[in-house]
Amino acid sequence: MAEATSPHLELDDIQSGALFERPSPYVGTYLFLRITDRADGRELVRRLHRIASTSGTADGRDDTSLTVAFSYHGLTALGVPQTSLDSFAPEFREGMAARAAVLGDTGESSPEHWEPPLGSADVHVAIAVLSPDPARLQAAAEKARRAHTELPGLEVVWRQDCYQLATGRTSFGFKDGIGQPAVEGSRRPSTSPRERPLKAGEIILGYPDETGELPPMPTPEVLGRNGTYVVFRKLHTKVAAYRRYLRDRAASRAEEDLLGAKMVGRWQSGAPLSLAPDRDDPELGVDPRRNNDFLFADDPRGFKCPVGAHARRANPRDAMDQDGSVDVRLHRMIRRGTSYGPPLPPGVLEDDGADRGIIFVFAGAHIRRQFEFVKTQWLNDGIFIGAPFEKDPLVGPNDGSSGFTIPQRPIRRKLQNLPPFVVTRGGEYFFAPGLKAMGWLAELNT
Ligand code: HEM
Repeated sequence: MAEATSPHLELDDIQSGALFERPSPYVGTYLFLRITDRADGRELVRRLHRIASTSGTADGRDDTSLTVAFSYHGLTALGVPQTSLDSFAPEFREGMAARAAVLGDTGESSPEHWEPPLGSADVHVAIAVLSPDPARLQAAAEKARRAHTELPGLEVVWRQDCYQLATGRTSFGFKDGIGQPAVEGSRRPSTSPRERPLKAGEIILGYPDETGELPPMPTPEVLGRNGTYVVFRKLHTKVAAYRRYLRDRAASRAEEDLLGAKMVGRWQSGAPLSLAPDRDDPELGVDPRRNNDFLFADDPRGFKCPVGAHARRANPRDAMDQDGSVDVRLHRMIRRGTSYGPPLPPGVLEDDGADRGIIFVFAGAHIRRQFEFVKTQWLNDGIFIGAPFEKDPLVGPNDGSSGFTIPQRPIRRKLQNLPPFVVTRGGEYFFAPGLKAMGWLAELNT
C-alpha cells in the first residue's frame, strides 16, 4: 500500500532494532550489563555509539545489527539528571517486575522466581547482536566485548543466546513474526495489504502518532528524539505439556493440528485460519504476499478463526472497529521475538527438562497503551470478546480453571482445564535511544 504522507523519518539516527528487517535465518546474543562506575559507563556508551553508528542504523543494509538499550536504573547509573529521568513513561520508571501483578506475572511467573538478575536494579544496559551466521555473530560480539572489557566499572550480569530457524518456526512449532505493522517513512512495506502503515510516532518518539499528537517524549529533546521503548521478556514454553494437552483431546493427528491452529489463529505453517479454515495450506503459510491478507469482520462469530485465538486477540483487525469504541491502530506493536533453547524433537511428549522458548521483544512509543494494553486487556482477559472467564489459550496466565471456546456448527467445542503453557522467566522495560542521544549520554558531565 502506498504511503500517503511520509514524514521525514531520520533513519540514520534510529537504531536498527525497531525498524531493521532481520536476516533469516539468524543467530544472536543478548548481553545485559551493570554499571558500577559512571565514567566507565559513559565510556561504554561512547564505544557502543561508535559501533552502532557504523553498523545497524535503520537505514543500513548491513545484515549484522547491534542495538543498545538502557533501563531506568541504567540511565540513573549514567548520571542522567533527575528532571530528565522523571520525564520517562511511568511504567518504564517502575520497571517490569513492579508491573508483575498487572501483567499477570504471578505464581510460577512471578518475579521471585525470575532468573537473577532479571527484574532487579542490577540490569542497566542491554546489547542485542544479530547476524546471519555464527562467524559474523562472533565478529560482531567481539566488537561489543571489546567495548566493555578493560572497563572495570562494568560487569556482564546476564547473557542469552538466541536464533531464528530458516522456517521461522518457534518452540511450539508455529511460524512466527508474520503479522507486523508497517511504519510511515520506514521504506518497508506492510505485511498486510489491508493495513495502512502506522504513523511513525506510534513506534518512534519525536513524530506525530495516530492521535495526530506528539507522544510524550523524554526530555531533553536530544535524548528522546528517535528513541523507542523496548519490552524484553524471556518466556519459557512448556512444549511437551502443550503437545500432551492436544493429544489427550484429539481423536487424530489431523485434529491435534486443527486444535493447535484454533488456539493460535494460524496453522503451524503460518497459513491463517481466515483463509484456510479447514486444512493447512503450507504454500499460503510461506507466501508473504498472501499470508497476512485477511480481515475478521466477515467471521464475527469466529467459525473460521475463534475470537479467542492468540493472534486474533493480539490484533483483532477490523472485528474490533464495529462499534467504534476501540481503535485497533492504537494498540499495534513491532515484535522482534526470537527463539532460545533446543527445539523439542517432533513427536516427543515427555519433558526433557531443557529450557526453551521465546524472547519476546516489543518496540513502540507507548508501553502502556500498546504492550500492556494488549497483554492485560486482550490476552489475559476475555471481557472484550464476551468470554470473561477465558484467557489466551496459548500464552495467557491459565491455571487449569479456564477453557477455550471453539465456535463450530452444530455445537461449539470447549477445551477445558487449560494449564499454563508459557512461564515468564524475567524481563525488563528498556529505552533504545537514537544515535545522537547516545552521543549525548556519553558526554554527560553530571
Ligand atoms: C511464548 C509466548 C508467545 C508465543 C509462542 C506467541 C506466538 C505467536 C504466533 C505463532 C503468532 C502468529 C504468527 C504471526 O502473526 O506472527 C503470534 C502473533 C502475534 N502475537 Fe504472539 N506469541 C507469544 C506472546 C505474545 C505476547 C506476550 C504478545 C503481546 C503482548 C503477543 C503479540 C502478538 C501479536 C501482536 C501478533 C500478531 C497478530 C497479527 O497481527 O495478526 N504475542 N504470536
